[in-house]
Amino acid sequence: MAELKDNKRKLYRKEKAETRKAFKQARFEDDQQISATPSGDESGSNSFSTTTEVDLPRKRFYRQRAHSNPFSDHSLEYPRSPDAMDWTKLYPAYYNEESKDVQSRVEIADIGCGYGGLLINLAAEFPQILCLGMEIRVQVTQYVEDRIIALRNKYKDEPKKNFQNISVLRGNAMKFLPNFFYKGQLSKMFFCFPDPHFKQRKHKARIITNTLLSEYAYVLREGGVVYTITDVEDLHLWMVKHLEEHPMFERLSKDWEKQDKCVQLMWNSTEEGQKVSRNKGNKWVACFKRLPTPEDCE
Ligand SMILES: C[S@@+](CC[C@H](N)C(=O)[O-])C[C@H]1O[C@@H](n2cnc3c(N)ncnc32)[C@H](O)[C@@H]1O
Repeated sequence: MAELKDNKRKLYRKEKAETRKAFKQARFEDDQQISATPSGDESGSNSFSTTTEVDLPRKRFYRQRAHSNPFSDHSLEYPRSPDAMDWTKLYPAYYNEESKDVQSRVEIADIGCGYGGLLINLAAEFPQILCLGMEIRVQVTQYVEDRIIALRNKYKDEPKKNFQNISVLRGNAMKFLPNFFYKGQLSKMFFCFPDPHFKQRKHKARIITNTLLSEYAYVLREGGVVYTITDVEDLHLWMVKHLEEHPMFERLSKDWEKQDKCVQLMWNSTEEGQKVSRNKGNKWVACFKRLPTPEDCE
């Protein structure tokens, strides 16, 4: 029985992998039609077209154990510098034939995006802005990729909500952020329900530390915002303490939080946040503004 289930899962994921591979080659042609050819098949005989129906992926086929060690070498791929990053496969609709590159830069990052609930909501909230989820777990990243492919396919005729402005990347945000983003490139960074790493000796694996905050300050522009939310009070206090102690960040007020749309979004739309709501748990929010770089540090 277990073997049968495993085979079903493997078959399902193999099919999805083929679709993913094909749609990664997707380009918007002049007539705004997607044409996608599986790699290695330049003839197009086996091509996917806009008429290909793509189902939303089923989460149960992508489950992976909850924690991934952020210090291990996951044989991750990352560019030598932001100049070397090829964004065209992530945002094919933004491809510019002349520059052979995407015409905008990512501005919003959801760090440890999990199953992508926030990203999906950001797509419609910021239709003109490129948003990126970064996720360390392979299968979870693949789930988000497949979810975005299916949504792009389903809403391809919607000008304002076609999910072309969101994408996901497998990566370790604790290691390589400055390899992906230029100085001051981002306007918002989300840290939603990050892994709590409860034990004292594991605190160094938390995604907010003094050293990492300096990297986040580097990729964030002046006035950019770090959003944090968690259901673990101890982690909330830890994040607030580190952010308050860091010279490049200043906490935003509760009044600011109340009027900010993204706070509402991260409260309601992530899978982890929804689970906390279902279990009637508490949520703690803290948002911090990136301060101007002092002149002597420029
Ligand atoms: C508790 S989950 C929260 C997911 C999502 N933000 C949500 O609210 O539903 C934390 C996520 O962060 C990811 N993660 C942990 N460390 C990471 C790292 N260094 N870089 C990227 N993702 C990471 C985990 O794999 C996991 O999916």
